[in-house]
Amino acid sequence: MEKILSIVEKQNSWRRYQCLNMVASENVMSPLAERLYVSDFMGRYNEHNGESHYQGTKYAMEIEYVVKEIFQKRFNTPYVELRPLSGGIANLIVMRSLTKIGDVIVSPKLTAGAHVSHTKYGVAGILGLAEVPMYFDPQDMVVDVDRTIELINSIKPKLVIFGRSVFIFPEPVKEIRDAIDPKIKIIYDAAHVFGLIWGGKFQKPLLEGADIITTSTHKTFPGPQGGAIIARKDLDEALWRKIERVTFPGVVYNHHMHRFPALGITALEMNEYGEAYASQVIRNAKALAEELYSLGFKVLCPHKGFTESHQVLMDVREIGGGRIVAKKLEESNIIVTKVALPWDSDKDATHNPSGIRIGVQELTRWGMKESEMRYIAELFHKVLHEDKNVKEEVTEFRKEFREIKYCFPVDKYEDRLARLFRG
Ligand SMILES: Cc1ncc(COP(=O)(O)O)c(C=O)c1O
Repeated sequence: MEKILSIVEKQNSWRRYQCLNMVASENVMSPLAERLYVSDFMGRYNEHNGESHYQGTKYAMEIEYVVKEIFQKRFNTPYVELRPLSGGIANLIVMRSLTKIGDVIVSPKLTAGAHVSHTKYGVAGILGLAEVPMYFDPQDMVVDVDRTIELINSIKPKLVIFGRSVFIFPEPVKEIRDAIDPKIKIIYDAAHVFGLIWGGKFQKPLLEGADIITTSTHKTFPGPQGGAIIARKDLDEALWRKIERVTFPGVVYNHHMHRFPALGITALEMNEYGEAYASQVIRNAKALAEELYSLGFKVLCPHKGFTESHQVLMDVREIGGGRIVAKKLEESNIIVTKVALPWDSDKDATHNPSGIRIGVQELTRWGMKESEMRYIAELFHKVLHEDKNVKEEVTEFRKEFREIKYCFPVDKYEDRLARLFRG
């Protein structure tokens, strides 16, 4: 018992209050969302295809539809599916709904930032799809549009997947949609940038020609861990019904209802503060990149303003490679991830790839702005160029940033929250 309590206590104080959390796929929920995360829904079951197969689910059905409606309004479409338990499962559902064994798909290459689910090692592989990587320009870190159009028009894949895990510039959805057979479906995996899209600051995939968005609900979108599928409003209804059937009874059974109140609160907070949050995230990423670059780090794409997303990418081959650099930063309580860059091999991706990926979305939620980003760049310099350990400096610095921004003030709801478990 004591052991378990102490592990949680150590995790809470270390990662929440003593670290610079810069893993680009993570975030913190708002205090209000967090308070609503643990409720009676936590231990309940629901399974439905419109009508629940369980009893005792009237509020489970209601909360799911209320949250769904917030998403439907935001994306101006009736086609929203919030039951997938994660972004990876959303990809599985959509790819399974749109393809059959042996179909060809065009997707990003692993070392050009693909999520593993887009590749032969992940969902595409287990579904027996033949994955052909789209062409990528490693200098500009974007899809090579002309060659990819040529590729798609010659091999005529069943679907094209955009969106990636290493993701600094928008995808050329419109250019490619306009140049290929309209029957070829385009999926946009927004897992990383969903919060920026919600805030209106990255790109608008459904308006640019994507048929379906898949996403996680916990990266730049700072909700509970989960997944979602959103399709354009004029998608063939029969195809949407198939996606629903593959969701249930195909892949997801009980869909973990406890996520929904927190997801709904996050969505409402993003309606209110998402634009300001997304703008600050991008400003912070640019400020961090500029300062790192001026301190001599090999930050990717200086000629393009470094980044348009929450991520900053550094080539750290000359200072030990991604694995070693990320480990060294962790010893100073700076948490980033190693990533493969386009010149790596697939094997390097999981071993010692060339890069590190730095995300600023969580630090932005803790209230940090451009000046803090410049200070953080100096900390990177101390650790990686001067071989210093800055753990104490980091812990001290974090003391000023203990309140999550861009969310509803929890104090205002204290009385209401106190009544939630009254019985
Ligand atoms: C582009 C992309 N898609 C899908 C996923 C999988 O999301 P999840 O971890 O929610 O399953 C990730 C995870 O990092 C990702 O980066």
